[in-house]
Amino acid sequence: MPNSISNLRKFVAPEIIFGVGARKTVGNFARNFGGQRVLIVTDPGVIKTGWVEDVKRSLEETGLEYRIFSNVSPNPRAEEVMQGAALYHEEGCNLIVAVGGGSPMDCAKGIGIVSANNQHILMFEGVDRIHSPIPPLVFIPTTAGTSADVSQFAIISDQDTRMKVSIVSKAVVPDVTLIDPETTLTMDPFLTACTGIDAMVHAVEAFVSTASGPLTDMHALEAIKLVSENLPKLVQNPSDVALREQLMLASLKAGLAFSNAILGAVHAMSHSLGGFLDLPHGLCNSILVERVIDYNFNASPDRFRVIADTLGIETKNLSTPQLQKALVSHVSELKQRVGLTQTLGEAGVVKADIPELSGNALTDPCILTNPRKSNKRDVEVVYEEAL
Ligand SMILES: [Fe+2]
Repeated sequence: MPNSISNLRKFVAPEIIFGVGARKTVGNFARNFGGQRVLIVTDPGVIKTGWVEDVKRSLEETGLEYRIFSNVSPNPRAEEVMQGAALYHEEGCNLIVAVGGGSPMDCAKGIGIVSANNQHILMFEGVDRIHSPIPPLVFIPTTAGTSADVSQFAIISDQDTRMKVSIVSKAVVPDVTLIDPETTLTMDPFLTACTGIDAMVHAVEAFVSTASGPLTDMHALEAIKLVSENLPKLVQNPSDVALREQLMLASLKAGLAFSNAILGAVHAMSHSLGGFLDLPHGLCNSILVERVIDYNFNASPDRFRVIADTLGIETKNLSTPQLQKALVSHVSELKQRVGLTQTLGEAGVVKADIPELSGNALTDPCILTNPRKSNKRDVEVVYEEAL
């Protein structure tokens, strides 16, 4: 039995419907949750793919009215959340359906928070700051990686400070997620690679997190295996639905792991970077991942050995320093195989930016569960190595 509060672990998850065609059940779920007028939150790119049409049709077939809010940037902004919440209120909506990647899903969470709590979205930064229950959330993810459809995180950009704000609360775990691998067929190879690496980073960070435990470890390891075995093949065969399904499964498992075990320095540093330069989230993670693994390795060598085994690295005869080297180069090669080779410098960062980036990373909640305790200089060195 656990003998202290720090040993307790929790596990929160939405109702999950997984499989091709899941998106078409949205009308039934919206009706079952008492929906009358639905706010669909999406973005212009997702509208072009046609998936929103399927959602509209399903809602119409079940006799539900809807309004659409699609003014969502790739890194959703505080003012967009406030606009969406105003529309939700003006139109008398009572349920939110998000269709898209992490951006519409995080924006939808923000709209739900604001509509129920009547305060500016930036007031909810941090852990467990939401007091009033938010409207039912029904999510349909169209990327395989962000896992905003299962997580208790919402990440919102503050344009004034050029920072990303992390909102962490059980209140933003959707009521149901309709995970339909077919919707990821419209991702281009770059987005497929970025989101796939994001899923792997979720799993790695969750497995070495100081809040990891048996409820999350199994999901994290299965996700690592699924990404490493399937992502390179998928980037070569983007229309293979079976491979799309494996990546969706990886994303789901990684999401269940990190939503409950939280993340680490890759995400703290990548949130800081993404807020500063408005770069794709998965790309930011990809730029940083092997540098952070190298930095963290000695804080959790046994766990990194399990990760290396899971990635298929022959670890038996390797000393700990050899293993560290092998793991870092394996992750770097995996990124190269899926076409992600950009450095921090190529992404537009200069050395003078690093102190500010590092200061902001240290204020992100994800740094709290990183296995190695970090100060500003530590983080600066990792950014410098990724330049
Ligand atoms: Fe992520």
